[in-house]
Amino acid sequence: MTDDRAGLTGRRILVTGASSGIGLATARLFAQSGAQVALIARDATRLDQAATAVGGVGLVADVRDPAAVTAAVAAAVDSLGGLDGLVCAAGINARLPIESVSDALWADVIATNLSGTFYTCRAALPHLSVAGTAGAPASIVTVASGGALLPPGSGYTAYAASKGGVVSLTKALAREAAPAVRVNCVLPGNASTPITQSLMATMTPTEREAKLAAYALGRIAEPLEIARAIKFLTSADSSYAVGTSLSIDGGRIFH
Ligand SMILES: NC(=O)c1ccc[n+]([C@@H]2O[C@H](COP(=O)([O-])OP(=O)(O)OC[C@H]3O[C@@H](n4cnc5c(N)ncnc54)[C@H](OP(=O)(O)O)[C@@H]3O)[C@@H](O)[C@H]2O)c1
Repeated sequence: MTDDRAGLTGRRILVTGASSGIGLATARLFAQSGAQVALIARDATRLDQAATAVGGVGLVADVRDPAAVTAAVAAAVDSLGGLDGLVCAAGINARLPIESVSDALWADVIATNLSGTFYTCRAALPHLSVAGTAGAPASIVTVASGGALLPPGSGYTAYAASKGGVVSLTKALAREAAPAVRVNCVLPGNASTPITQSLMATMTPTEREAKLAAYALGRIAEPLEIARAIKFLTSADSSYAVGTSLSIDGGRIFH
């Protein structure tokens, strides 16, 4: 069943990190809303399964590689016939005390979360600008994290730095890309995805309990609850939102 209350029918949307978690939930929600969707991730098998399940086009690319990103964006434009929306959800996490963060891990977290978002926005913007100038404004939604504003504990130097960069990049690009393209950011709290599951596996039972207690709702999010916010920022329902950072975090209580 499609839901076109947000006017997404026929919109052409590219989602990175779309083979799992928040990106997959977002691609699925867009497709259910009548959009045409292209999905980017690295692992071809998982991506194929996701693209088939969603009814979209899978494009294998590593967002750390600018040439691969440019090629994948061009392929998405070819296959969808243009581009009206981009969601940058590809990301990785790391939770280690700073003295254990190797040069390679630091570089990987920054390359994936921050540079990957930059490369994807840079490659997609000309296409989005064309669509946004010709019709309804196009849209970019970046995915940062509540940890960009206040890390939930120790061990988040690389991750928080990368996501703080995403928030700043979003605000700077929002000024540059408007009015043809609206650029906004979501800051999720923890959602039930493999990133969070592997992170929580590193915690003691007491730490896990404290994590859940830090949310006013007493639970972490379902990926769909984050996807709905991304859909809102992509659709005309958020027509006056530009450069905003939308926290969707179940009322995370900062200690
Ligand atoms: N889940 C949370 O609690 C939470 C909270 C705040 C923010 N976020 C952010 O939300 C985003 C999605 O997180 P998630 O929890 O949904 O993660 P996830 O389930 O682990 O999915 C990550 C996705 O990104 C892709 N990916 C990772 N590295 C990539 C690369 N170099 N190039 C292309 N694709 C890549 C993965 O596929 P491949 O591995 O096959 O490439 C996968 O499709 C991330 O940016 C994350 O930081 C998540």
